[in-house]
Amino acid sequence: MTEEKMLKVEKIRRGTVIDHIPVGRSFQVLKILNISSDPGITVSIAIHVKSKKMGLKDVVKIEDRILDSSELNKIALIAEGATITIVEDYEVIKKFVVVLPDIITGILKCSNGRCISNMENSVKPSFTLLSKNPLTIKCHYCEREMETDEIFGSIT
Ligand code: CTP
Ligand code: ZN
Repeated sequence: MTEEKMLKVEKIRRGTVIDHIPVGRSFQVLKILNISSDPGITVSIAIHVKSKKMGLKDVVKIEDRILDSSELNKIALIAEGATITIVEDYEVIKKFVVVLPDIITGILKCSNGRCISNMENSVKPSFTLLSKNPLTIKCHYCEREMETDEIFGSIT
């Protein structure tokens, strides 16, 4: 097969490619990046793409945008192992894999409404990673354990 036939989405001139997203998770990725509220940003999405490594995967390409560390941590929560590629002038200038840290701070809120992290503005939510599969985290303050769906719904 020629490369042209294999490419599902066009190469980008400048921006960020999020590759190897677990199949179906690209929607959550778009949500946390607030893409829909910014008409100035061009985004290409490929879902259910065949991958040697993963069977099927999703890919998101965002033109003219570089992600900050909090966005990268959110992507790690949703799509650990995703590859981030930074493109300039059509060339790959940087490429890395997102990894979930053992302590997750500030990117999601505790699902316990009475947790001090929800009552006091000065208390930053903080969680310990208990398990990656199934994704399970524990609140540093109230010890509430949260799993995948609850976690995705609590990302701020
Ligand atoms: N990419 C892009 N636009 C460019 C360059 C790269 O959209 N100008 C995308 C590619 O389509 C791919 C990702 O960025 O999804 C990584 O590019 P590259 O390292 O060139 O591809 P591969 O070697 O195929 O990457 P991998 O082995 O990580 O799948
Ligand atoms: Zn809590």
